[in-house]
Amino acid sequence: MPSAHQLSGNAFLSPSLKNMQSDASLNPVSLWLDQGRSLWGGVADPNSCFQCHGAPQTLKSAATQHPKWSPRLNRLVNLEDQIIACSARTPRPFSGLENPEVLALSALLHSSSQGLPFQVSAPIHHAAQWQAELSAGAQLFTTRMGRMNLACTHCHDVNIGKQMRADVISPAHPTGFPIFKMSWQSMGSIDRRLRACFSGVQAEVPAAGSFELRRLELFLKSRSQGLPLDGPSLRR
Ligand code: HEC
Ligand code: HEC
Repeated sequence: MPSAHQLSGNAFLSPSLKNMQSDASLNPVSLWLDQGRSLWGGVADPNSCFQCHGAPQTLKSAATQHPKWSPRLNRLVNLEDQIIACSARTPRPFSGLENPEVLALSALLHSSSQGLPFQVSAPIHHAAQWQAELSAGAQLFTTRMGRMNLACTHCHDVNIGKQMRADVISPAHPTGFPIFKMSWQSMGSIDRRLRACFSGVQAEVPAAGSFELRRLELFLKSRSQGLPLDGPSLRR
């Protein structure tokens, strides 16, 4: 048995959500994957993702390796940021991280990576910047914040398995993203989930796409050491 610290968020689903998740005909994630496949396009679709990248499977390491350091933007870029950047190379550019098309493509690419562990690592060039981002993410994880004056670690290291309102606190491994969250009635990215945790402790919520969120994402992915990606998945 793995220790509670090594469990994916999927281990904390209620029995009814577990059933829904394992039945493709009931799982809303299936529809998002269909949408992702149709957006990805195929041989017959000029200017599609397929035209430059081939089948989604050829990018199966992409979800495991983001966020990556972008020397051009001088910041970390996560998978959804890259999907938005690439959509500008097609006739249908997307805007907004929580745009349904971005999330459908993110779901598709994450599903291609199922079973693989995260492999975030310092780039050969710019290793110092990357390392500084990782350290800043680790620092944020232990910094108290908000009116509740709690840090991420107080819930996601210290209180794993405890009930908090209707949730059981997980170790916050980011393997299950993107998530279809019943209370959102939508798919959401890790960016949105992290903002929800800031709001949960009544802290000032960072803007979508902000560098704090990318640092935290990088830290969480390096912290999940060897756990396989098991998203996209359902949440309460
Ligand atoms: C007061 C407790 C609390 C604090 C502090 C908190 N969270 Fe959460 N977080 C939760 C709860 C409750 C959930 C939903 C249940 C779960 O998955 O743990 C959650 C969910 C998550 C998830 C999604 C896990 C999944 O598989 O769906 C991530 C990632 C996460 N938190 C990261 C963070 C980060 C990073 C911070 C600090 C910026 C933070 N949390 C601060 C309570 C907290
Ligand atoms: C005109 C060619 C072109 C098109 C069309 C295109 N891409 Fe890309 N894509 C690239 C290039 C070049 C890169 C390398 C990074 C960069 O320059 O942005 C890339 C990188 C990526 C990566 C990161 C790969 C990795 O392993 O790090 C992802 C994910 C991605 N593209 C997704 C998409 C999606 C989704 C679409 C369709 C909306 C798409 N791309 C359309 C050219 C394209």
